[in-house]
Amino acid sequence: MTELDKRLDHLLNGRKQKNRFRSFKEYDTSSESGLVDFSSNDYLSLTSSKALRKAYLSKLSSTPNIFGSTGSRLLSGCTPAHSALEKRFVSFFGSPSALLFNSGWDANVSFFATVPQPADWVIYDELVHASVHSGMRASRVPPERRIPFPHNDPKALAEVLETITSTSSSNDRSTVFLALESLYSMDGDFSPLPALLDVMGQNVPRSRQCVVLDEAHSTGVYGDQGRGVVHALGEEGGAQGGKRGEGRVDVRLMTFGKAVGCSGAVLLCSPTVRSFLVNFARPLIFSTALPHSTVIALDCVWDVLQSEEGDQRRRSLVVISAYIHSQLDILLARTPRDILHLPPDHNIPFPDSDAPNLPPKPGSPILGLLTPQPHALSAFLLERGFIVRPVVPPTVPPGGERVRICLRAGMRKEVIDSLIEALRLWVDSRVEEDRGVRAKL
Ligand SMILES: Cc1ncc(COP(=O)(O)O)c(C=O)c1O
Repeated sequence: MTELDKRLDHLLNGRKQKNRFRSFKEYDTSSESGLVDFSSNDYLSLTSSKALRKAYLSKLSSTPNIFGSTGSRLLSGCTPAHSALEKRFVSFFGSPSALLFNSGWDANVSFFATVPQPADWVIYDELVHASVHSGMRASRVPPERRIPFPHNDPKALAEVLETITSTSSSNDRSTVFLALESLYSMDGDFSPLPALLDVMGQNVPRSRQCVVLDEAHSTGVYGDQGRGVVHALGEEGGAQGGKRGEGRVDVRLMTFGKAVGCSGAVLLCSPTVRSFLVNFARPLIFSTALPHSTVIALDCVWDVLQSEEGDQRRRSLVVISAYIHSQLDILLARTPRDILHLPPDHNIPFPDSDAPNLPPKPGSPILGLLTPQPHALSAFLLERGFIVRPVVPPTVPPGGERVRICLRAGMRKEVIDSLIEALRLWVDSRVEEDRGVRAKL
């Protein structure tokens, strides 16, 4: 073993002892395997759409360029197909401009590493994605000007904003960035977006605000034809030609790796922010642009999202999400909290949930089931044919250990029933075990 390998091995052993060791696990999720995948983010089951597959193969066979883009967007990788896709997104999402990235990770890192300047503030929900943290760390904004606030808590946000505005002078021109997600991937809860935007409006002049919303888990799923939560709430903003849109969300991130079934992302922002990123965002400047095959796939996916098939898939996801909540509520009502429970605010209704295309209450397709024994529960469920992955620190805070259930539009109610039955067996076995331990004392 080299000295380097020895040192790394020592560090890895430390992780193993803390039960935090990560490794790849391969599962056969083909229909023959009998396994049901509750870990995939393929919320609309689009990766198994026959119509999409047919359209994609047909378009591939009739398009001359289908392989790699062969260079960064600043070199050979800016093709008419890339620009046409961005134009499609500008019009579809109602944004002043759009910029493609190779992943949501790259887009968040690029934005937060370059756009906020040293005198600005970045206020963020404590549960925002790791990519926002990596971006902030690489930025020139000093750590004391990057402030988290407790998850989804408008009051706590108000306190943070009051503190920073009380210390700033009347001619302060700094920007206050607010980083949020529409649907949080670990707790599976929605952001109380209108309330948070109201708080922002009460504390920071509009000209000094920049609200950035990550729609990774709502792209394609919510809003008219899948335009996202911000669009459904009429909050799409961003400035063009010096004029600011009516909405209060300035920058949106839509990603393609989850419900869209491909990979990559698009940042919806003002033309100035776009141009700034093209000039300074290293993951964009120094990396090969999305391959043609992906650009073609995205075009085909958007044809489906904008069709009756897309509407049907979105409706099915809402139905199956409501169903699992109703069944889980029954199970959890008789389950001791220390065995299994949902995060505290999980069932808070989506703000304005009567608006069309927004999820009804409770509508989240992501459920984080908190348990002190996530690995054991995951193994128990796998033995019964369900892939439900454990999530442990540092991905979630200590004490937030859980298994995560992600639903897909194509799932049938019977599959949900079988999963709930398996969870019930697990709960009963834990209750029995606890009783045995208490009887011995
Ligand atoms: C909220 C959020 N933002 C960004 C990302 C990164 O997106 P991508 O997988 O496209 O890199 C993820 C992926 O897990 C995410 O959950």
